[in-house]
Amino acid sequence: MHKLAGKKILLGITGGIAAYKSALLCRELKRLGADVRVIMTVAATHFITPLTLQALSGHTVHCDLFEAESDHGMGHIELARWADLVIIAPASANTIAKLAHGQADDLLTTTVLACDKPLSLAPAMNSLMWQHLATQANIQLLISRGVTVLGPAEGEQACGEQGPGRMLEAEQIAEHLQQQLNQELLAGKKVVVTAGPTWEAIDPVRGLTNHSSGKMGYELASALRDAGASITLISGPTALSPPAGVDYINITSAKEMTDAVMANVPSCDIFIGVAAVADYRPVSPAQQKIKKDADSLSIELVRNPDILAMVAALDDAPFTVGFAAETEKVVENAQKKLTAKGIHMIAANPVSGKNSAFNADSNELTLIDRDGISHLSRCSKPLLAQKLTKEIAQRYYETYPAKDS
Ligand code: C5P
Repeated sequence: MHKLAGKKILLGITGGIAAYKSALLCRELKRLGADVRVIMTVAATHFITPLTLQALSGHTVHCDLFEAESDHGMGHIELARWADLVIIAPASANTIAKLAHGQADDLLTTTVLACDKPLSLAPAMNSLMWQHLATQANIQLLISRGVTVLGPAEGEQACGEQGPGRMLEAEQIAEHLQQQLNQELLAGKKVVVTAGPTWEAIDPVRGLTNHSSGKMGYELASALRDAGASITLISGPTALSPPAGVDYINITSAKEMTDAVMANVPSCDIFIGVAAVADYRPVSPAQQKIKKDADSLSIELVRNPDILAMVAALDDAPFTVGFAAETEKVVENAQKKLTAKGIHMIAANPVSGKNSAFNADSNELTLIDRDGISHLSRCSKPLLAQKLTKEIAQRYYETYPAKDS
């Protein structure tokens, strides 16, 4: 599949033994359909020849700041304008330091300084160099300016050391770049996401709640934002900070969540209910703290509104996605919910045993829609959120083809 068709990627290669992996990266990016142009530092040419990269990219490789324009008709300004994104792999400690301080003494650093496109770095170096406070400070400075840092991985290094500093594999870097370039996937779309648990008061100090950490909903809100959508995140009580760049509404009870959703959903394109909404709430919460005078205590509960079903039943309903946290018969129960709530898609995950999604940093999902079942295998919640974003966008545009602009 040509997932990078039409994309223009500027590949910077600096001097390190991992430069040989850049040949594989160049080939992988080409295989995915990208047009790749290569800039090598002088040090990089000691590890791998420009001729290799020229053969793989199909273009002259650029190495020299002063000869580039006259030799190849593409100087640093043209290369910077041409690129959709820049990836430097491997990124040496030296080039990272130069980028952090805006130094521009070779073609690569000069081009990056003249370029306002997304920049990613795949560092590769001896683990002590990577861990050095100077390198870490430079990396943090670059991250704070919006640079994406991919890796490094841990493991055995060419220098014999063990530890962090290995460049990520070509396929991993290519996967990250695909995700970065898919940013426009939901541009202009409005998405409302619910997350976290709800808290149903029994009295002023006690309540009914559940184990939901909110991590999956917050990660999904971030991934949807990165895909270009404007996000309203309506969250129950969690220990998480709201993701930057989303409209955040903090609620406590299911009733408050319902009101916030119904106020925001009329103008939205997609509604995703990730929240673990309490199904029941105490009929009449005590106004004062309940004393433990009696040997037993009954609390009468009443059903909370089903927010997803309410949204799906609206006349001009958005594309609706639910989550099903199940302790048994995950797929069967999720399928029933899809039909009962009248929603477009449901993402089911197990919440019992060692693979429970609750409070975990990783998760897996079974996706069920009206056409069938597919599976997103276990990975970190941020990566899973990116994958789920693509799946939701694809089904949204299939359901509302007229809205695909
Ligand atoms: O019905 P159940 O709670 O198992 O379904 C889970 C899905 O429904 C989740 O997407 C959750 O956010 C949503 N839900 C809801 N309102 C409720 C209960 C659950 O929107 N009252």
